[in-house]
Amino acid sequence: MNIQLFTCILWLLPILGLTQALSQNSNNDFPFSTVIDILSENVEFSTFLRIIQKKGHIQYLNELQNFTLFAPVNSAFVKEDQMTHDFEKGFNIERFLMHDNVLKVNELTNGTYLERRGTTAPLLLTRYKHRCWVNDITVVEPDLQPNFQNASVQGIANILLPPLPIKDLLVQLDEETQDLKIFNDFMTSFSDYDAYTNKSTLLVPLDVNFQKLFNAIEINYLTDKYLKLRKSNAISQGKWTADRTSLLQEVIIDDIYGGFSPNELTLRNKNNRTLLIKSNFDGTSIGVNHSDYSRISNKIFELGVVHGFSDLDFLREHIKFDAEKYLHGLNCSEFVKELYFRDLEKFIQNEKKTTIFVPQASFNEDRGYTKPSLLYHFAEDKIDLEEDFSLLPKIEDVSTQIYDSAFCSSAKRLGGHCQKLKISRSNEGYYINGRFKILNTKPYEIGDTYIYSIEDDLQLPGELVLSLPPQDHCSTSLMFLRDLGLLDLPPNHKGYTILLPCMNSWDNNDLTVDYLKSNKTALNLLMRNLIFEELIYSNDYNVSTEAQNLYGDSVYIDVEEVIECSNLTKISVSNIKESIFIEENSDIFFNQGVIHPINQLDFPDDLEISLRELIETTGTKEIFEFFNLFHDLSSIIRNEEYSLLVPTSSSIPLSGISVNSTNLKTFLELHLIPANETQNLLDCNDVINTKLGKQLNCRKDHLNNHFISVYEDWSKEVRILKKGCTSGSKSSCVFLIDKPISLSWLDNEKYHLHLPGIAVGVGMIIGVTLAISLLFCVVITRGGKAKRIDEIETGTANHVTTPLIQSSSRTNISSYSATAHLSPLSQPTFEGSYSGNAIQRPRDIRRVASEQRGSRSVSTS
Ligand SMILES: *[C@@H]1O[C@H](CO)[C@@H](O)[C@H](O)[C@H]1NC(C)=O
Ligand SMILES: *[C@@H]1O[C@H](CO)[C@@H](O)[C@H](O)[C@H]1NC(C)=O
Ligand SMILES: *[C@@H]1O[C@H](CO)[C@@H](O)[C@H](O)[C@H]1NC(C)=O
Ligand SMILES: *[C@@H]1O[C@H](CO)[C@@H](O)[C@H](O)[C@H]1NC(C)=O
Ligand SMILES: *[C@@H]1O[C@H](CO)[C@@H](O)[C@H](O)[C@H]1NC(C)=O
Ligand SMILES: *[C@@H]1O[C@H](CO)[C@@H](O)[C@H](O)[C@H]1NC(C)=O
Ligand SMILES: *[C@@H]1O[C@H](CO)[C@@H](O)[C@H](O)[C@H]1NC(C)=O
Ligand SMILES: *[C@@H]1O[C@H](CO)[C@@H](O)[C@H](O)[C@H]1NC(C)=O
Ligand SMILES: *[C@@H]1O[C@H](CO)[C@@H](O)[C@H](O)[C@H]1NC(C)=O
Ligand SMILES: *[C@@H]1O[C@H](CO)[C@@H](O)[C@H](O)[C@H]1NC(C)=O
Ligand SMILES: *[C@@H]1O[C@H](CO)[C@@H](O)[C@H](O)[C@H]1NC(C)=O
Repeated sequence: MNIQLFTCILWLLPILGLTQALSQNSNNDFPFSTVIDILSENVEFSTFLRIIQKKGHIQYLNELQNFTLFAPVNSAFVKEDQMTHDFEKGFNIERFLMHDNVLKVNELTNGTYLERRGTTAPLLLTRYKHRCWVNDITVVEPDLQPNFQNASVQGIANILLPPLPIKDLLVQLDEETQDLKIFNDFMTSFSDYDAYTNKSTLLVPLDVNFQKLFNAIEINYLTDKYLKLRKSNAISQGKWTADRTSLLQEVIIDDIYGGFSPNELTLRNKNNRTLLIKSNFDGTSIGVNHSDYSRISNKIFELGVVHGFSDLDFLREHIKFDAEKYLHGLNCSEFVKELYFRDLEKFIQNEKKTTIFVPQASFNEDRGYTKPSLLYHFAEDKIDLEEDFSLLPKIEDVSTQIYDSAFCSSAKRLGGHCQKLKISRSNEGYYINGRFKILNTKPYEIGDTYIYSIEDDLQLPGELVLSLPPQDHCSTSLMFLRDLGLLDLPPNHKGYTILLPCMNSWDNNDLTVDYLKSNKTALNLLMRNLIFEELIYSNDYNVSTEAQNLYGDSVYIDVEEVIECSNLTKISVSNIKESIFIEENSDIFFNQGVIHPINQLDFPDDLEISLRELIETTGTKEIFEFFNLFHDLSSIIRNEEYSLLVPTSSSIPLSGISVNSTNLKTFLELHLIPANETQNLLDCNDVINTKLGKQLNCRKDHLNNHFISVYEDWSKEVRILKKGCTSGSKSSCVFLIDKPISLSWLDNEKYHLHLPGIAVGVGMIIGVTLAISLLFCVVITRGGKAKRIDEIETGTANHVTTPLIQSSSRTNISSYSATAHLSPLSQPTFEGSYSGNAIQRPRDIRRVASEQRGSRSVSTS
């Protein structure tokens, strides 16, 4: 009621002509005027006065001395009733007061002034020409002064709104300038930054300022971009927090500074470091320690002021970065945590040369590192891949370098030698050990540490079997090692080097494989002579060393580069005749040493595989009988001057050949190939001479099956099933063929085999019986699978095709008869264990498959 009445009187005043008497020029007429009097004398202030009354501040203002009151004129309230209502609700008289300062704007010189107000937000006063603003609000009625109070009233055109909290101000400034993103991220990563910024001056580094001083990784670290701070190891977290706090405190000055100041101020930031602050001539901008003037200036928040800079140069000075901090900045805090857990943090803190291969962060956080596996991520040297690889000759698509890792503590297995890392470069980039892709070819560099990010978790080379890449096709050799129990080598405190026949080593040696399977003694002799108790790497040039092989012999090993800058390395072992050539850096590491997959088959001097053993392996024992009949031929098997075509044992009786055959010698001579012709047959090209003088042809089909026929007559041919050469020379070999080359195929009548009467009879009986049963089978299986019919139509019921098909279901591996087992590798379980991680299956399996398919295409005979 009272207020309404009062308001009513106020409105009536002008009508009553009282305004005249109360006007501002009439102070003298009214000797004891107060601030309230001024407000009531001026109609423009009626709304504000009403609010003051309503909120009960009249008394307070009447008793106050030495102050300035900013009074919004009525027009400030007209905009919206709702706004006025809200304004009244949150009304705080202090927002409109400036204590201990009787402001006379008309006495101000041109410029911007920041007026502190104790526990209330500061005010920004601007004077230009004859106009004045407070917080960008025009002062419309300046310097109204009562004479009974030491105070002034400034009539302002708008309401003084409460300033934004610091958080909102920064967001707003970022929206306006697009240049505060990093600082915003930085600030919001503190849960409690209000406590730092309360009543203070914030020197905000703009994004350009951050980017001038810090790289992206460092910024990630400072802003805790990946939110890993709180999850980190306590010690690491302590350092991290200290860095962040230090940076924050570096840009905060207690108390509020801004606007015009006539002199340079010497202030201290929250780190108690001196800062020299000066304003420009009109106070619209400030400079700190010789920086450029602020780009963003005098932005007021709840209780403080913000200035934005593009070139504060002292921010980095007191933050010392190291690898540990970089790893945090790379989102690899889990890795850091693991290092602390295993007491290996010195690797990311020391001043020594270090290279780190750190797995990029993934969702899979729990990797279960061991100390050795962690150490394997480090090299105690600076590895600059681009530089190292630029030194290599450019000719090759793939180039490789070998480095020592920091895992050097395995005395038991590697004799204290460091496990190695092999890095290769191809078109697709750099890979470690052929498997782990390096994501940045330029390392992140901090101090003497290089950091490479890798795609997946680097695994310490594991067991022998798991280390060999499937594309090396080592399965035959691995099978042998398994059969000999050599996949788990005993720890020898030295490490092992294995020369492992892989790739195409066994390709022309199926018979040899069969022989080795049947003779463990020979197999032991071969494999154990290829394993050495010493670590020999392909780049150990000019190393000449005496080493113990696993057979128990001491041998000398020489390593040489074949030609300078070629990528071939020659390894000579004293008890192996032929030198072994390996590609430089093709080394494959495993937990006990190194494997060199080789593409050749060499036998130690002590291992003799002669024609006799190979023929025995074919199972065609008759051959010995046949040769024994002829004195001049029997030495051939001993002297290895010839290679032999040996028909399968089962095809012999069907072909009618026996000790009683009259043309047996001719027959045998047709199956003897002189040593110097052997390579032609192995390669299956060209014409091949026989001892008989007749020539044979060899052809390959598209599945790489080899067929032999009489020269220039392709109508009849035999198929080569297996090959094997003697250990002594590469030119005396045994070729197992599916059936004999018949003398009848030769044009000359004289070569026809003359069979004795009984034999002819027996042969005819067999033939007729066979023909009848064939007919029978054809009738029965007609309409069945075409494949079956094909087999039957091969005439002599090709015995070899059946084992091929059976081989896939074969389980009994201990029986090593040649004809029964064309596929030594068809044990799916072993293949699986060998290439557990492989997408690609070892090739040998496919070869067997293709042989199976090939066997169907044998149709004519
Ligand atoms: C006002 O200022 C004068 C001079 O500084 C001082 O003497 C006086 O005590 C002040 N009055 C109040 C109420 O603060
Ligand atoms: C009025 O207040 C101002 C500021 O507080 C002070 O400097 C001045 O001396 C005071 N004047 C009188 C007459 O008290
Ligand atoms: C303020 O600036 C205006 C325009 O530049 C000038 O005319 C005036 O004299 C200045 N006033 C003072 C007090 O410096
Ligand atoms: C700022 O400090 C004042 C006292 O100096 C305190 O009353 C106020 O709550 C503080 N504000 C914040 C946001 O911490
Ligand atoms: C800040 O440094 C100055 C000079 O080095 C020293 O006198 C003062 O005590 C320090 N203040 C704090 C709070 O450490
Ligand atoms: C600012 O400059 C002063 C004087 O050159 C210097 O003493 C001070 O250390 C500087 N402040 C910082 C934080 O570098
Ligand atoms: C950071 O690493 C965590 C796992 O530690 C992962 O979940 C997150 O996606 C990573 N962040 C980025 C941006 O890569
Ligand atoms: C070695 O050189 C040959 C041919 O120059 C190339 O095919 C092969 O990939 C190279 N091997 C390595 C390991 O660099
Ligand atoms: C097995 O191989 C060893 C070593 O070469 C040889 O001495 C032995 O005679 C072979 N045994 C058979 C049955 O071939
Ligand atoms: C070869 O002839 C002898 C004597 O005529 C005979 O005993 C033997 O069974 C015959 N061998 C074959 C395989 O026909
Ligand atoms: C093998 O030796 C014989 C006689 O010495 C010769 O006629 C023949 O051309 C040789 N064959 C090859 C492939 O060199």
